[in-house]
Amino acid sequence: MHLETSVPLLVPDLPSPQELMPYLQRMHAARHYSNFGPLVCELEQLLAARFQVATPAASVTTASSATLALELALTALALPPGSKVLVPALTFVATATAVVRAGYVPVLGDVDPDSWLMTPGMAWQMRQHVAFDAVVPVATFGAPQDMAAWSLFEQSTGLPVIVDAAGAFGSQWLHGSQGTLVFSLHATKSLPAGEGGLVVSTNTALVAKVRQMSNFGINLQPGARVPTGVLASIGTNAKMSEYHAAVGLASLSRWDAGAQRRRELYSALRSGLDAATGDALRWQTTLPGGIVAPGLLCARMPSAADRLRLERLCQKLKIGTRRWYQPLLGEIRGTAARWESAPTPNANAIARDLIGLPFFPSMTAPQLNAVVEAVGQAVVSDRVKALV
Ligand SMILES: Cc1ncc(COP(=O)(O)O)c(C=O)c1O
Repeated sequence: MHLETSVPLLVPDLPSPQELMPYLQRMHAARHYSNFGPLVCELEQLLAARFQVATPAASVTTASSATLALELALTALALPPGSKVLVPALTFVATATAVVRAGYVPVLGDVDPDSWLMTPGMAWQMRQHVAFDAVVPVATFGAPQDMAAWSLFEQSTGLPVIVDAAGAFGSQWLHGSQGTLVFSLHATKSLPAGEGGLVVSTNTALVAKVRQMSNFGINLQPGARVPTGVLASIGTNAKMSEYHAAVGLASLSRWDAGAQRRRELYSALRSGLDAATGDALRWQTTLPGGIVAPGLLCARMPSAADRLRLERLCQKLKIGTRRWYQPLLGEIRGTAARWESAPTPNANAIARDLIGLPFFPSMTAPQLNAVVEAVGQAVVSDRVKALV
């Protein structure tokens, strides 16, 4: 038995001070600490190159967080104030708060029961019942969205789509399609800069606008309507600093090995949990290719009662769990008045039994076993009781 092993829910995996040192030395030698310095530009070039392999038209800009990157990308759409933006009911709060801060109204829509994503098909269906002017689908729990299908949706309806791919770096690509993606480089993500965001888009004008607005709204492009260095729009300060870019660059140089470790750990945990529960857990289905650098471990328990039993057991055993994205956006007191909602039966059903379990690259074998044993015990004790 490993039940005395305590297991945190998440442990960030960031470069060591030694790995950071060469980048920090470069920064210090250049005396350039922010304002699109050499490290930010290098990080942007390396990231752009990754996306341009399949999508040569892709361009990128960094930001201080995915939340601000989303807010600025939505603002750059320049929709009339109060426009409706469809977002999934099952997502992190920042998806909806970014919409509100851009001056629009989130409309909560349902997610697919198997992939847990708001898919293009669901957005098509939603159009029969609710009016909306743009969509922010989410690559929920790192599972990629089908960009060919979203691009078709965008072209057929004329409605802009910005994918919140905060936790999906390495899994979400444009795959040659037109589109806009926003990633997070937060400490808990697979490409951490400590804090950071990244916009990737085939819409170069949108990327340029986000970059300008991340720099107070000051024009950065020679030959534009307004001279460089002069205020062209009302922006904010959402620039990525050179310190954060140093962490991002060091993270990028070790990303492939980290992603492999994440995949191996994820598959060991998943098969251990399936064996311990007699395949009683339900997992998120993904597109072919799946989640390349998993960041979270989420499963649906057989029932709400099973989840509660597991949570109580884990609390006793000092094993971290989290009901990710709960309460659902529509149930958050005080802010629910800021959004509208369609019926969301699938999201509601998922929220009843979804559980986030410990997952982090430095997880040890005893910690893995402790999680598997606890989940097995919570599920199987119920089955045994039912048989008695
Ligand atoms: C779906 C989603 N959107 C947005 C964010 C916000 O990202 P950031 O912390 O970089 O602002 C997160 C953070 O985890 C997220 O999961």
